[in-house]
Amino acid sequence: MGKISLLSLLSGSIWGTTLACLAEGILYPKVDLAGGTRLQVSGRWLREGILMANVVVVGSQWGDEGKGKIVDWLSEQADIVVRFQGGHNAGHTLVIDGATYKLSLLPSGVVREGKLSVIGNGVVIDPQALIDEIAQLKKQGIVVTPETLRIAENAPLILPLHRELEALREADDAATRIGTTKRGIGPAYEDKVGRRAIRFMDLADLPALHGKIDRLLAHHNALRRGHGLPEIRAQTVYDHLAAIAPKVLPFMDTVWSLLDGKRREGKRILFEGAQGALLDIDHGTYPYVTSSNTVAAQAATGSGLGPNAIDYVLGICKAYTTRVGLGPFPTDQMDNAIGKTLGERGNEFGTVTGRARRCGWFDAVLVRQTVLTCGIDGLALTKLDILDGFDEIKVCVRYRLDGREVDYLPAGEQAQARAEPVYETIDGWKEPTARARSWAQLPAQAIKYVRRIEELVGCPVALLSTSPEREDTILMKNPFEL
Ligand code: IMP
Repeated sequence: MGKISLLSLLSGSIWGTTLACLAEGILYPKVDLAGGTRLQVSGRWLREGILMANVVVVGSQWGDEGKGKIVDWLSEQADIVVRFQGGHNAGHTLVIDGATYKLSLLPSGVVREGKLSVIGNGVVIDPQALIDEIAQLKKQGIVVTPETLRIAENAPLILPLHRELEALREADDAATRIGTTKRGIGPAYEDKVGRRAIRFMDLADLPALHGKIDRLLAHHNALRRGHGLPEIRAQTVYDHLAAIAPKVLPFMDTVWSLLDGKRREGKRILFEGAQGALLDIDHGTYPYVTSSNTVAAQAATGSGLGPNAIDYVLGICKAYTTRVGLGPFPTDQMDNAIGKTLGERGNEFGTVTGRARRCGWFDAVLVRQTVLTCGIDGLALTKLDILDGFDEIKVCVRYRLDGREVDYLPAGEQAQARAEPVYETIDGWKEPTARARSWAQLPAQAIKYVRRIEELVGCPVALLSTSPEREDTILMKNPFEL
């Protein structure tokens, strides 16, 4: 990839690029007349002399990095928007032409005309939440149809029993509390790997559903007995699913094959991650994590494409750090004036649950780690304007742990809790960055802050967001153009 894009850059024209690729022996010419001049080069598409990329967007902290605005901007340029993990625990707020849309399960493409939205197999789907979200959008004038939304047949379902089980585990006095969104996400993923989940396609074969429900309830009723709860009758689950099936089945598709075909047609695909890399079930602050893989590689597994379908990984990253729920957060300033100021200025309240987020300084150690676990090519740095007016700004550059300094977050829960941040202090800036649309409009000290972050995390800033408005963005690199 690097070789081709370097040659493309050097040659600077479609013919130059073509010749360069021929010289490399990697050109597979094919012209797509429908979409203008297009050539396929080593499995990727060349449009008007530019190699087109499929882009994965991931949160590079603990979620809530301001993905909504960036994903919306990217989805305008994409043909297809794919969700590949999580469920309706995510919360994306999109503001388009003055109207605010709150999405939890549906991909951001649904609010834009002419885009195909896809929910991949890596997502857990609450069919009732799906119906409700579609109905809510209809009230706002957005009609979601099987032409605009396709859902993977092999995606597991979230059922009411999952939410009930999670509510027990999340009760205030429960030792099992994680601080989840209480949407049933974790229990549904447990059933997926426990090989007893009801999946989307099972709704299409109601006679066979009985046996699957029995298998599921053998597990859940045992748990319920342990908790002193009444058992669930198989017929109750069956009736719920049979009633819902005709409403959701029209959206079902063989998503891996659909996406493969679209990719071959040269469509631009945006993979829309939810939550953040530090909530990843493997790489996050376990056990205070969500139950899916949130890292970029999951875009392939969770949609049924191979890893070579991903060309560019964009990490969304807040200019400071926030976290909701329990768990370690080394740079947390929740109990002091800094944390309060960041929370108030940044309007740090959860979209899904309304919970106040914990706020703290930027943690370069964590983002550097995420850049590596996600293979991030460029960062979209958001909410820089929230730091306007601070006399000084701190950035965590290492941790002190048990008398020594480390440059990564250890995997163990107790070690994570003991890690103390080692800060570097940078002078703040008094002039506003809010609404800046070019580097020239930024105070010198703000530019210094951004450059230092790039240096510390080992990754360039591709996009800088300076307000919730779409236009208030400084673009250094379009992720769709290699
Ligand atoms: P769950 O995903 O509901 O199981 O919650 C597990 C953890 O992930 C909790 O700490 C939640 O607060 C967190 N979480 C889940 N979804 C989001 C999100 O969209 N943004 C931020 N945190 C989230």
